Amino acid sequence: MTVYLVGAGPGDPDLLTVKGARVLAAADVVVVDRLVDRRVLEPIGPGALVVDVGKTAHDGASWRTQAAINELLVAHGRTGALVVRLKGGDPYLFGRGAEELAALVDAGIEVEVVPGITSALGVLALAGIPATLRGVASSVTIVSGHSADGAETKWRHIARAGGTLVLLMAVANRMRIATQLMEAGVSATTPVAVIERGATPYERRLASTLGELGDLHVEAPAVIVVGDVASHLVRSDSEAVLSAALSPTE
Ligand SMILES: C[S@@+](CC[C@H](N)C(=O)[O-])C[C@H]1O[C@@H](n2cnc3c(N)ncnc32)[C@H](O)[C@@H]1O
Repeated sequence: MTVYLVGAGPGDPDLLTVKGARVLAAADVVVVDRLVDRRVLEPIGPGALVVDVGKTAHDGASWRTQAAINELLVAHGRTGALVVRLKGGDPYLFGRGAEELAALVDAGIEVEVVPGITSALGVLALAGIPATLRGVASSVTIVSGHSADGAETKWRHIARAGGTLVLLMAVANRMRIATQLMEAGVSATTPVAVIERGATPYERRLASTLGELGDLHVEAPAVIVVGDVASHLVRSDSEAVLSAALSPTE
């Protein structure tokens, strides 16, 4: 039997692919991450075993190591059960999907990847931000803001690339990242958009600039967009409705 590595998309269950929903409905075992929106689990049948391997991000600690998750997948895969490994967004983008695939392949288990809509593009699109835009941004760089290794060099290179910069896992380090980008020549007035918990009922959209990013109140999980396309951010429906209600009528 095949183990499916499935991308759950950014939150809204309607953004799960048709194939993802189909294999979830047929699954005997579903191994799910913390960032996966619980509404995405609805297609799972009542008889399926759901194993939550959610990790806590606060101190980087996890109640299950990646090695333990790999072993769990291999163990269930060997039983011949239909196993779905459900991961937030796309399984590969900062998702360690490749490590899990390698562990399964090494164990002689067949694996199929079902891509998902990554937060790095989908959450932007929902908020009105085109990652690339003719005449404005001809490239997009997606970077993890989490790793501290070689940080200074990394941000200097990234600043030189131009185009749109999409930062994931960057909430805690946003001040340092903004400073390093500005030191590398990116203007403090560069538009920034922050989308917290995109594609969920708790979504928050914030417009700012690189110079102000460090002082902005932001909670994870969030996607941070740096570049001219960030000025395309549209306010969320609730804010628009509120402001319409407050506007004087003619
Ligand atoms: C470990 S990475 C996994 C990314 C995932 N594989 C993807 O393709 O979206 C987790 C980071 O993705 C971003 N993220 C994931 N879901 C999000 C959402 N619904 N709204 C905003 N950011 C999200 C945040 O930056 C979060 O810290």
